[in-house]
Amino acid sequence: MRHLINILDFSPEELQELIDTANDIIADPAKYSQICRGKKLATLFFEPSTRTRLSFEAAMYELGGNVIGFSEANSSSAAKGESVADTAKTISCYADIIAMRHPKEGAPLVASQNATVPVINAGDGGHNHPTQTLADLLTIYREKGRFDHLTVGLCGDLKFGRTVHSLINALSRYEGLKFVLISPEELKLPSYVKKEVLRAQGIPYVQTTDLEGAMPDLDILYMTRVQRERFFNEEDYLRLKDSYILTPDKLQNARQDLSILHPLPRVNEISVAIDSDPRACYFKQVLNGKYMRMALILKLLKEAGTL
Ligand code: CP
Repeated sequence: MRHLINILDFSPEELQELIDTANDIIADPAKYSQICRGKKLATLFFEPSTRTRLSFEAAMYELGGNVIGFSEANSSSAAKGESVADTAKTISCYADIIAMRHPKEGAPLVASQNATVPVINAGDGGHNHPTQTLADLLTIYREKGRFDHLTVGLCGDLKFGRTVHSLINALSRYEGLKFVLISPEELKLPSYVKKEVLRAQGIPYVQTTDLEGAMPDLDILYMTRVQRERFFNEEDYLRLKDSYILTPDKLQNARQDLSILHPLPRVNEISVAIDSDPRACYFKQVLNGKYMRMALILKLLKEAGTL
């Protein structure tokens, strides 16, 4: 049984296959509109979500399938103490595929070890968010036409930002990548990501607090929100939350072909004045997420022998 728990579960060739399918869906959605008729997706969201949950649901409906699920832990039997393992076994009786978001790192992995249907990690704590990475990859591919030889700036909360960890993992497999890690001292990329991914593979990176200084070199600027829900201390959050606010003046030295990404939700990191800049890609990213989730559902159901 194939699952998607970590973006590294898929080879670069498989990611390209998903991108090709997503592009084909974009070109001819009618071809896919009944392909999942009679199939059910379960969305098990133990944490809040707008994009991930609703894009999964839209994806399944646009494939002709149906959706069941819950959007908060309190409306499930988790509130009575049911384990993730038992939840996964139970939902396997009702659905053909599961998308799970959970505040605890590793919960979707536990679900995948107990389910009898494919499980997709829709975000686990501060750990990983592989389907956001699928959205990011399609956006980069459609904007740049490649994944190699890019200088990628990652800015904001690199400590708790799970989308950043998954994206670094995914991009680390392409040639000629350079990362510029822009964050306050307290929100630097965790050492294990630097050691196990960047240094282990000899990928060049610099760490800086200076967004404007880094700007001229960047092909991609990936802004992130400071993850309030992961802080132990509200005072620290308040001190750090506005560390980086991208405003038009900060783009003065940016390349004309810069692509600005953000997984969203945005709080204050990107001024709305940037939204009309042709370099802003974050709402395209939202739409791309739906197409990649459609491609992912198709791949996992086919590999499970369900389609
Ligand atoms: N990018 C993302 O995961 O958004 P949601 O939290 O709204 O799903």
